Amino acid sequence: MIQLNLQEGLQKAVLSLMPDANISSILVRPCPDLKFGDYQANALIGLAKRNKMDPRKFAEQVIDKLDVSEFCELVEVAGPGFLNFRLKTESISDVLVRACKGEHLFFSIEKKPRTIVIDYSSPNVAKPMHVGHIRSTILGYTLAKVFRLLGHKVVTDNHIGDWGTQFGKLLVGWKENLDKNALSVDALHEMERLYKLVNAACDNDEVVLDRVRHELVKLQDGDEENLIIWRKMIELSRHQFDEIYSRLKVDFDETLGESFYNDRLKRIVDELFERGIAEESEGAKIVYFNESKALKKHPAMVQKSDGAANYTTTDLATLEYRQNSWQPSEVIYVTDGRQQLHFQQLFELYTRWKPEHAMKLNHVWFGAILGEDGKPFKTRSGEIVRLNYLLNEAEQRAFDVVTEKNPDMGENERREIARVVGIGALKYADLSGNRQSDYVFSWDNMLSLVGNTAPYLLYAYTRICSIFRKLDGEIILKPKFFTLAQAEELTLAKHLLRFGLVLEQVGDECRPNFLCNYLYELAGYYASFYENCPVLQAEGEIRIQRLALCDLTGKVLKTGLETLGLETTERM
Ligand code: ARG
Repeated sequence: MIQLNLQEGLQKAVLSLMPDANISSILVRPCPDLKFGDYQANALIGLAKRNKMDPRKFAEQVIDKLDVSEFCELVEVAGPGFLNFRLKTESISDVLVRACKGEHLFFSIEKKPRTIVIDYSSPNVAKPMHVGHIRSTILGYTLAKVFRLLGHKVVTDNHIGDWGTQFGKLLVGWKENLDKNALSVDALHEMERLYKLVNAACDNDEVVLDRVRHELVKLQDGDEENLIIWRKMIELSRHQFDEIYSRLKVDFDETLGESFYNDRLKRIVDELFERGIAEESEGAKIVYFNESKALKKHPAMVQKSDGAANYTTTDLATLEYRQNSWQPSEVIYVTDGRQQLHFQQLFELYTRWKPEHAMKLNHVWFGAILGEDGKPFKTRSGEIVRLNYLLNEAEQRAFDVVTEKNPDMGENERREIARVVGIGALKYADLSGNRQSDYVFSWDNMLSLVGNTAPYLLYAYTRICSIFRKLDGEIILKPKFFTLAQAEELTLAKHLLRFGLVLEQVGDECRPNFLCNYLYELAGYYASFYENCPVLQAEGEIRIQRLALCDLTGKVLKTGLETLGLETTERM
């Protein structure tokens, strides 16, 4: 893509002046303000300063050596030593022509693909999934799609919480209070009820607590009866999770639960202890991080005093397994921000245990979902909002919006559009904000037809589709060049050219909101293009070119929305 050509040209020019320069930081990025140029490089300033040179003079020397005349009509030094590049219309036209021929869609496929493992969703058995899990599911799945689109190899793994002390309580509840009827209606609901029941009983009854411990030990020792119940609980839970995944159209390459790693945990704790990484403290095995400023006061436990390993140990085993199975260059974990300490400890600990494994470990965390009152999102009666009901409500509310707009459309079609819009709106609301900020859940905002929302973008896409419907089978020619004489055409074209860069930025920072913003801007530029530049009424070459711009915009919009996990619809 052009921006890469400029970057390579610039790096070459710098090397010819400074053969030892570290050019990896010399990047070309879109200009924040199009008044000054289309692309910009600001890394020369730092480079000049480090070499005790005057940044502006250095920038001028670089320009002398720079040959990007094929792409740019102008390269200028600005401010303290920025370089601003202004593209030639012919080179923009070239890129568009090649896109029309289907040679690319403004992004390039990675020549050196990386392997990336993404751990997302990861709900817990016997507990209903809630809105917190939706965020992990949606974000994680989108990241997988972005990396795959760019040509990387991705392994997605749903690290289900299917082991742990909660099963003591669940087993007691199951054996003593199970309501089979309720279980067949809504298994997760019934298991949650059992858990709460026993949990409350434990508070003031030592006898119950003893039974809980006893059932847990039996399970851990492989008691057949308890194993059968435990497996049943997993099966029922997974069935309900799968229902939600299929409504969300999300999938996984692997679903290796925590229990998959059980028989590796003892070896790991022993090894950590023998190598002096873990030490004994009051019967437990603890790891101290004295050299780390952030973790000095937060030692991690890898074995409890009763001999049981825990979440951290399981995650160590999981990482070792991932390394051995797939040799990833990066492992990404998508969870809420409350697990930051856990992952800091895990990453530090793993690096100490396996310093030879040079993979990037990346905790991609997100903020909470709040109700409109600013408190954690709950139902009116104060319960956690269940995902299934949330999806139903999204579809129902979208149905009302669609019905209001199209009272004459058949019900089936309205239902189908409502499904796409409703689920899309829910997903988009999760993706379009800065993931680290808390976000306020608001049906009215996410279903609004104006602003940075799914309905707005999906509607923009349908408007493009409707142009092509009007052509009624007319053959659309491919333009041989683009004149781009009108300002709105040029702005739209330049924005299309940036698609690939945005995808890369999403991957680099694991922030899908960059793509949302990009698509929102694209829809805006397209709207003003369509308002100011006649398309169907234009004639000759100009008509062909403008139709092609509509088509390319539609393709980028569709690909972008699909990368965000949204389905599109041709009518709305
Ligand atoms: N099951 C955990 C939870 O619901 C999330 C697991 C995240 N992945 C991991 N490898 N620790 O909080």
